[in-house]
Amino acid sequence: MRPIEEWIRGNLKVERVDSAALRYDGMDHQAPPDLGGVYRPYTPSRIDDWIDLSLILSYLSALGTTGRILDIGTGDGWPALPIAPYVEAIVGIDRSQKRIETAEVNRRQLGYENVTFRVASGDDLPFPDRGFDGVVAGTAIEQIHDPEACLREVHRVLENGGALVATVENLAGELSGPYAEEVELFQDNDRFFYRYAVKEVVPPREAEYLIELDPSPPLARLAAGFPRRPGFTRRQGEPGMQPLAGRIAEMFGLSFLERFRDRIVRVSGFELRHFTPGSLRDALAAAGFSRIRIRGPITRIASRFFIALHEEGMLARLSPMFEEMCRALAQAWDEVPTEESPLLFVQARKEPA
Ligand SMILES: C[S@@+](CC[C@H](N)C(=O)[O-])C[C@H]1O[C@@H](n2cnc3c(N)ncnc32)[C@H](O)[C@@H]1O
Repeated sequence: MRPIEEWIRGNLKVERVDSAALRYDGMDHQAPPDLGGVYRPYTPSRIDDWIDLSLILSYLSALGTTGRILDIGTGDGWPALPIAPYVEAIVGIDRSQKRIETAEVNRRQLGYENVTFRVASGDDLPFPDRGFDGVVAGTAIEQIHDPEACLREVHRVLENGGALVATVENLAGELSGPYAEEVELFQDNDRFFYRYAVKEVVPPREAEYLIELDPSPPLARLAAGFPRRPGFTRRQGEPGMQPLAGRIAEMFGLSFLERFRDRIVRVSGFELRHFTPGSLRDALAAAGFSRIRIRGPITRIASRFFIALHEEGMLARLSPMFEEMCRALAQAWDEVPTEESPLLFVQARKEPA
């Protein structure tokens, strides 16, 4: 555990909350606000859309069904909305009310009638046994406080022979070192907030703390000077997290907390255990899944492929074959290497009866 987290835990009373409450409820946008398939339809004129559509079609290929699908931790509607045109029906659930409201706005904008969103927790699904032909998730299972309980619930609601297809963060591939820390300081009306987030590779985990501080002129000056991250849209008025390094580390590290210790009025935080490829395989098997495949996401190949075509000036000419080309590439999802991938792409089946 890093010194700041140790200090917070050793000196402050932390109210335990979940990631949906502390992080995702407060975001205006959880996904990038121009994300294809969610905020707008895909278009071949954007190279990112070739890559993203390939990922969506790799979900479909790995699902092996176009029936009734459940999306766990859908956020702003990913992957539920981009998958919707290809399946009979899809239900997206999220613990965060704000995310479900946002996803519903996006659904209406895209005009899809076969998608439903509802607030629910992935570890306590309000659905009958075997109610879905397939289950999907986009970096959400590891954001749930009890991911093993979520996997058991997914297994329960899956039809016999159905598959779970999910992307899962792989911190060993994502972080360039053994840990990554970020902070921010901001003012919300007359209150000040310090946010600290950390991810660690061994054991794989992440934690985030939100510390509320009583106002003071020095705090106001520091908050006003905290650098803003361009294009950041978590919530109006917040500057966005900055890596705890260089000047930020000097001004907003442990010395900041020690200096303003007497002004701290409230602390809330969450801690998440993350998976390694091995522990994910074990957890899936313990939940009852078999035929487990853990790969990298197709985006690892798709980005190289489509960027090369773009640089050769060919991508625009291939626009009429946008979907066919993405679909063809998506079939290769089982060949993508896992090594050093920041994201794992997982397929796991419930045995046929
Ligand atoms: C990293 S975001 C991913 C969102 C979306 N799937 C995407 O890929 O853009 C994780 C999501 O999991 C949701 N979440 C956190 N805890 C949850 C829980 N217990 N049950 C359901 N969803 C939860 C969060 O609110 C958030 O929307």
